[in-house]
Amino acid sequence: MMLDFSRQFASIREEVLGAIEAVCASQRFILGPEVARFEAAAAAACGVAHAVGCASGTDALWLAMAAVGVGPGDAVVTTPFSFFATVSAILRCGARPLLADIDAATYNLRPEAVMEVLRSASGVKAVMPVHLYGQCANWDAFGAMGREHGVMLVEDAAQAFGASWRGVAAGGLDAAAAFSFYPTKNLSAFGDAGMVTTQSADLDERIRMLRTHGMRRRYFHDEVGWNSRLDSIQAAVLEVKLRYVARGNERRRQLAVRYDELLRGAGLAGGSIAEGIVLPFTDPRAEHVFHQYVVRAARRDALREYLTARQIGSEIYYPLPLHMQAALAGLGYKAGDFPVSEQAAAEVLALPMYPELREDEQEIVVAAIARFYQ
Ligand SMILES: Cc1ncc(COP(=O)(O)O)c(C=O)c1O
Repeated sequence: MMLDFSRQFASIREEVLGAIEAVCASQRFILGPEVARFEAAAAAACGVAHAVGCASGTDALWLAMAAVGVGPGDAVVTTPFSFFATVSAILRCGARPLLADIDAATYNLRPEAVMEVLRSASGVKAVMPVHLYGQCANWDAFGAMGREHGVMLVEDAAQAFGASWRGVAAGGLDAAAAFSFYPTKNLSAFGDAGMVTTQSADLDERIRMLRTHGMRRRYFHDEVGWNSRLDSIQAAVLEVKLRYVARGNERRRQLAVRYDELLRGAGLAGGSIAEGIVLPFTDPRAEHVFHQYVVRAARRDALREYLTARQIGSEIYYPLPLHMQAALAGLGYKAGDFPVSEQAAAEVLALPMYPELREDEQEIVVAAIARFYQ
């Protein structure tokens, strides 16, 4: 029940298969007309001037940072409470990741914690907030930080297609942004795919150059780029799904309100973790798209086991903060360095959330949680 892809596919089957068939008929599999069409439509949806399709969200992060000039000798500040790619993309640019703790209510990077890093570290070129679970990071604070401290801001908007901050859509909040269209995302491809957005024509040109081996002219390489193009077939699928994403996000928001009401109604959300579970917090300045609906529970692992035994899907995003990952031991952090992230990693639980989730299924989820706490 966590995520049933077949429900969405059933509703758009003919459109998607028709779009894939058109690519097969043209045999233009790399950067075909579907890619340009999807890029234009996605840019319009995000309210940005430019969108560049690429092979994954991870590549999109790397392309965005490389395009704004992050490279060896630079540092980039980000969150330890995210998917691994947030930090690995910084390393792949040859730069040094510096971490700062999160806000306990939104789970997003805490601006004051980033400011402490900016005061103590040198060489910080960029800050990369992640719009975790589909809610934009505090862009009042990050926007001001970019202007006042001369750092570039790159959004990790992998989980936030259609989200906004004070009416400005994710992807257009600052220099450049990265999206993922991994199959579990709210706008998803039939495989790996990603996109970088920017308002700058210069950055757009650089990103396009970097995604095709640093070529501006065929077989003349100005920089060492990468092969990170968006397949025409994926663009064709995305072009169809883009038509439905706003409606899907709206449904996610309705389902989130309904979860809140059902969980409160069952007496499970008394406000503190000691009294049951803590509901997601929505910042009134942010339009949340509920890519994930995430609650907190003190006995999270036992609750998850209980739900799993009853065939109720749930997921932990993420069980181990990035500063404690074996692969990132070289960063020099240790357990205890980011206590808010560490506590979140021990307590968060994502409940089933996707536009096709049925209301009776939501009731089953909440009833099971209620039985666990009886
Ligand atoms: C916050 C975040 N950043 C980056 C990525 C990387 O995206 P992808 O899996 O498309 O490479 C993801 C998704 O997996 C993500 O959730």
